[in-house]
Amino acid sequence: MKGSTMIIRVASISFLFFFLLSSPKIVQADVTNKVNYSQDVIYQIVTDRFSDGNPANNPSGAIFSQTCSDLHKYCGGDWQGIINKMNDGYLTELGITAIWISQPVENVHALHPSGYTSYHGYWARDYKKTNPYYGSFADFDRLIQTAHSKGIKIIMDFTPNHSSPALETNPSYAENGAIYNNGVRLGTYSNDPNTLFHHNGGTDFSSYEDSIYRNLYDLADYNLNNNVMDQYLKESIKLWLDEGIDGIRVDAVKHMSEGWQTSLMSDIYTHKPVFTFGEWFLGAGEVDPQNHQFANESGMSLLDFRFGQTIRSVLKDRSSNWYDFHAMIESTENDYNEVIDQVTFIDNHDMSRFTVDQSKRQTDLALAVMLTSRGVPTIYYGTEQYLTGGNDPENRKPMKTFDRSTNSYQLIKKLASLRQTNPALGYGETTERWINADVYIYERTFGNHVVLTAVNSSSKNYSINSLNTSLPQGNYADELQQRLDGHSISVQANGSVNAFQLRPNSVSVWQVTKPISSPLIGHVGPMMGKSGNTVTISGEGFGDKKGSVLFGSSSSEVVSWSNTKIEVKVPNVTAGYVDLSVVSATNKKSPVYSKFEVLTGDQVSVRFAVNSATTNAGTNLYIVGNVSELGNWDPNKAIGPMFNQVIYKYPTWYYDISVPAGKKVEYKYIKKDQNGNVVWQSGNNRSYTTPNSGTDTVRTDW
Ligand code: NOJ
Ligand code: NOJ
Ligand code: CA
Ligand code: CA
Repeated sequence: MKGSTMIIRVASISFLFFFLLSSPKIVQADVTNKVNYSQDVIYQIVTDRFSDGNPANNPSGAIFSQTCSDLHKYCGGDWQGIINKMNDGYLTELGITAIWISQPVENVHALHPSGYTSYHGYWARDYKKTNPYYGSFADFDRLIQTAHSKGIKIIMDFTPNHSSPALETNPSYAENGAIYNNGVRLGTYSNDPNTLFHHNGGTDFSSYEDSIYRNLYDLADYNLNNNVMDQYLKESIKLWLDEGIDGIRVDAVKHMSEGWQTSLMSDIYTHKPVFTFGEWFLGAGEVDPQNHQFANESGMSLLDFRFGQTIRSVLKDRSSNWYDFHAMIESTENDYNEVIDQVTFIDNHDMSRFTVDQSKRQTDLALAVMLTSRGVPTIYYGTEQYLTGGNDPENRKPMKTFDRSTNSYQLIKKLASLRQTNPALGYGETTERWINADVYIYERTFGNHVVLTAVNSSSKNYSINSLNTSLPQGNYADELQQRLDGHSISVQANGSVNAFQLRPNSVSVWQVTKPISSPLIGHVGPMMGKSGNTVTISGEGFGDKKGSVLFGSSSSEVVSWSNTKIEVKVPNVTAGYVDLSVVSATNKKSPVYSKFEVLTGDQVSVRFAVNSATTNAGTNLYIVGNVSELGNWDPNKAIGPMFNQVIYKYPTWYYDISVPAGKKVEYKYIKKDQNGNVVWQSGNNRSYTTPNSGTDTVRTDW
């Protein structure tokens, strides 16, 4: 008896050993790193449509559709459903490392006159309460705890632009945009004595200014230059940060001033820094310099609509080819200061689903390209089940199956794990190695780590001759194990790849990882902050022993140190962009990272306005002053062009700007023409002391 138990034990131990050695290394994502998502894969969930884990919390009456036959109504999905799908292995095995959920706050309960409901979470009513149809705070805590215990981060949607549908003249339309602070009513839209809202009609999207200060559709638009709203929204997001969220997706960022949003980001990064990305919708082929400027200056990243729209036009609509795709990769690398922080996708809840019947292979090609490209890849729920559907609400149908054997499920699993184990995908540069209209072969490299990907989206075979790579000499099997008809390759000592055939509609992925022994920075997050804020530097070769991190020539207080991750406090250095570098304990220095911006201090949003500033057509007003946030007296860094159509009208100009709190600043307005010629306001510098908190307006004459 004893003897046979022994044998079984020994056998099972050696079996365990065999299992550990032979199964692919599963590396759990680092959920403590809330500011770096470059190695993560996000899974976007419309909470109401994913899984109903608790029928007891479903709404009753006209806003609920039991069978979800009415896609404009609540269908019962909730946080318990998401918890269940983590616990039963569906989400964990898929390999995704972050979940973006619908805005968790209480929304309007009323049925919209057109038969709509707020199942999507975009019509807030009380930001300090939960949406009861998704769950309670106790449920939310369990969602966070379950996720964190499984190496998954939780990202919440957030709508600081508007409350809910309302009409100026009809208080009984929906809930009249009413907004509550933990149950206490702050105001309503049609009777708004404290001007919590804008009353400038709906936007026709004709200009950036028009989009910001008028209502988006029928949504009651917040006046973010109001102290009550400013304080309420900033308090609210801190409540959810304290609940333990790991990231924020900000809705409709094109429809709020950059100044107010920068002050919000500074608040978040001072309180509990988390990765934050905004939604600035761009249509197919649309390129907007304001979008780049926002991503580079506001302190938050953006959803990468240029990537999303281009991959759709190449693989879904077939109206572009790989030359267009590569052109997008090259130009976005220049247009965005940190392209690896932009959040990529192939579809989402605001556009038709990528898959159309009979096109599963196209979906797989698109997923493979996204998961091997720069940026933070996002999978829209159900794409892995090949859900189909046109525009909203057809693209928000409930999950039908949770099948783990689909090709795309297995593909995501494979490549999500490769993003964790090979940092070339998260941090690497992109080099085109071979291209024609049908074929794109591109390489990502970070130090000695290399990933080479080949996609052929045509129905033809292609002979690949004279392909070169940074992969070292050797034979490389396809990492996808021929799941997408890939090929293996042989690389010569000089980097040339032996000729091979690339099969139709195929993707191959070849890779190598090799440790880096000298400090190399892959990512810095956040990229903006005042002295004293915590910043996380990710990369490799930092060494296991603590060295130092320099901001310019000032060294910083090190909070934690490992070979791949360092946390430091921003030292007291001059505000503005600063050169950051890592020096290892053995005195090896990293190349400089020059995209970090030091802020003068805590930030507040102030509306600067100037009367009687007449100009010729083509000339605009700007403001410039003595702090970094006002351009340090450099007319090329002046803030503007200012607005003059909605809040105030020409010849009064205004602009909402994030400036250091509680500080006396000096400034002047300037007129700049199309050729950059500058006319300064005459007289002495103007001076103004900014508020310690809240917002303010300072309006003077030219
Ligand atoms: C963009 C969201 O993604 C969309 O679904 C929503 O309706 C609007 N913003 C308004 O919140
Ligand atoms: C071979 C070249 O070496 C490569 O750079 C190019 O992309 C392909 N030909 C396709 O033109
Ligand atoms: Ca439910
Ligand atoms: Ca707005």
